[in-house]
Amino acid sequence: MNYRHGYHAGNFADLLKHIALCELLRLLTAKDKKLFVLDTHAGAGGYDLAGAKARRTGEAEAGIGRLMAESRTGMPAAVARYLAAVQAYDRKFGPPGDALHRYPGSPRLVRAALRPGDRFIACEKHPEEALLLKREFAGDRAVEVRQADGYHAIKSTLPPVERRALVLIDPPFEATDEFEVLTRAVRHALRRLATGCYAIWYPIKDEAAIAEFLESLAETKHLRLELDLGPRTPDGKLAACGLVVINPPWKFEEAMRESLPWIAARLGDGARSSVSTSPSEAPAPP
Ligand SMILES: C[S@@+](CC[C@H](N)C(=O)[O-])C[C@H]1O[C@@H](n2cnc3c(N)ncnc32)[C@H](O)[C@@H]1O
Repeated sequence: MNYRHGYHAGNFADLLKHIALCELLRLLTAKDKKLFVLDTHAGAGGYDLAGAKARRTGEAEAGIGRLMAESRTGMPAAVARYLAAVQAYDRKFGPPGDALHRYPGSPRLVRAALRPGDRFIACEKHPEEALLLKREFAGDRAVEVRQADGYHAIKSTLPPVERRALVLIDPPFEATDEFEVLTRAVRHALRRLATGCYAIWYPIKDEAAIAEFLESLAETKHLRLELDLGPRTPDGKLAACGLVVINPPWKFEEAMRESLPWIAARLGDGARSSVSTSPSEAPAPP
């Protein structure tokens, strides 16, 4: 387990994942029913953008940095809401300005959207990252941080008493069999809570593994979002990624169709995005 999200926080992959996460949370908490949220691979919770890790890769600058520099006029509403959430977190760490001090990880974005009575469990397996995550939420009783395997947490927490859940699965894809483990975990989760909303991030590198993974979801109602920075660089850096959202709430697709091309247009000349639906029927209104 060598992966440290601090090198990548706020990059193009986080933009895709976090804008979708914020919109899912907004739509799912609009209903007057309690929600259970599980973040299976939570990371450290927040990331220093002026620190050595972020500066070494420059990924945040090329990602969230570009969006922050944009005028809010004409910006898609979902992007503006996501940036407002990023700024609200950042404001605790320094005066507002053009450059962000700190970037919120997925658990912070979830926490900001929770209502009283909602429940949130954040799992992180790496001991150092888990310690940082525990510190990030020290004294906050609305967040249960577990140093644990997120895949096991799927088995131990689903179905939740609330019967409504958002599950974010965001593995580092270091292990060669990650897609297989993921596929088994998602199948298991769906058996336990078929109506849950599942957001699953994946890198676009191994097209055959992605095709197999998507094939395993053929029976589900899902949306596939992708962001591609364009022609790959020889350094082997990740340049394209996707997010599958199973059982997306009503209006989610519309927000993503508006937001992702806008974001792609700001990430470079060759960048593009796509939104595609599963063969199953489109999400029904509530
Ligand atoms: C991509 S990062 C998570 C980023 C975070 N979701 C966010 O959006 O801010 C993946 C994290 O999963 C952790 N991890 C790896 N395998 C895990 C497992 N089986 N269960 C829980 N966490 C795991 C890694 O240590 C790493 O911190």
